[in-house]
Amino acid sequence: MSHILVTGGAGFIGANFVLDWLRQEGADGIVNADKLTYAGNRKSLAAVEGDVRHIFSQTDICDAAAVTRLLESHRPRAVLHFAAESHVDRSIHGPVDFVQTNVVGTFTLLEAVLAYWRALDAPSRAAFRFLHVSTDEVFGSLCPADPPFSETSPYQPNSPYSASKAASDHMVRAYHHTYGLPVLTTNCSNNYGPFHFPEKLIPLMITSALAGKPLPVYGDGLNVRDWLYVGDHCAAIREVLARGRPGETYNVGGWNEKTNLEVVHALCDMLDALKPKASGSYRDQIVFVKDRPGHDRRYAIDASKLARELGWKPAETFETGLRKTVQWYLHNQDWVQDVLSGEYRHWVAKQYAA
Ligand code: NAD
Ligand code: TYD
Repeated sequence: MSHILVTGGAGFIGANFVLDWLRQEGADGIVNADKLTYAGNRKSLAAVEGDVRHIFSQTDICDAAAVTRLLESHRPRAVLHFAAESHVDRSIHGPVDFVQTNVVGTFTLLEAVLAYWRALDAPSRAAFRFLHVSTDEVFGSLCPADPPFSETSPYQPNSPYSASKAASDHMVRAYHHTYGLPVLTTNCSNNYGPFHFPEKLIPLMITSALAGKPLPVYGDGLNVRDWLYVGDHCAAIREVLARGRPGETYNVGGWNEKTNLEVVHALCDMLDALKPKASGSYRDQIVFVKDRPGHDRRYAIDASKLARELGWKPAETFETGLRKTVQWYLHNQDWVQDVLSGEYRHWVAKQYAA
């Protein structure tokens, strides 16, 4: 069976990608290399445990020898690079892990992949792809009247997270221009959906609302993000992998600009309808808290290149995607509780002790 190698496939987007990929007819197998940091959760992959098409390996992308072993033993036709430290607030408190994984890790992976790719026979070398999953945050912050970010917008990262992702994008680009490695880069806006770690805005608000806790909105709540349902991001990545032009970058976004306050209001209203409180509205739990340092005001993505060249457009509206997400969290409280209690980390040891 032919394989693809996915890094970070136990995280939010990576796990959704693995599950979506294996649902496609005739899908190649997946080698899933994930270090299992706090953000990696094998419970998110429970649906494919025991599926022979999914091979999980607890691997740090900074470990060159381990990455090379995976490449040599499974001979993937493509590498899809999701693994990263991804939380802006964590990057403000402790940037070192971001430099290590996002910059050094991406470099280490590129080196291993380049050596592997060079040794392939000519047809396999021509067909091989390295797809780098990146973010719109590398472009910095927009003013209200600015046009959305396009593929040619200048890089102006403002947080340690976005600076480390920008550095990784530049390394990926350099490996194409210098060595000819057939790379593709996607820069996507904010994702939401199932298996999202409950420290990010949308899952935090859902889980805190249900727990009767305050809903902390940073600053004035008027920062704008462009929200995309994670399943649509996964579909875009499949399209770019299949038909993207090597060396090109593709912006991925939902055409769904919302202020944080609009998002939190929408969530509260949906929860009021689906799981009403004994009295009052979930909106009563909203509190305004101290702003994030250097908080980017607005992100927005122009995804027209992807639509024009590859025919991709999002299937979900913000309304339908948010409803699916809220319902998923309501029906998967066990997953949430395991994450909140830290139990998911012990589960790996228990489940896989043998
Ligand atoms: P996440 O934090 O949920 O998951 C990251 C995964 O990478 C985890 O499973 C973690 O264990 C793994 N990992 C971390 N360090 C590793 C290392 N050194 N070696 C191997 N595995 C390691 O992140 P996410 O939200 O799923 O994001 C995935 C990718 O998509 C990231 O590259 C991120 O920059 C990008 N992205 C995310 C968003 C978003 O809204 N979440 C938007 C655009 C782009
Ligand atoms: P986040 O999910 O951390 O994504 P990012 O910062 O990468 O866009 O945050 C999304 C937005 O929500 C961002 O503007 C910060 C804001 N936010 C809050 O207002 N309160 C919170 O508790 C969190 C986690 C985020």
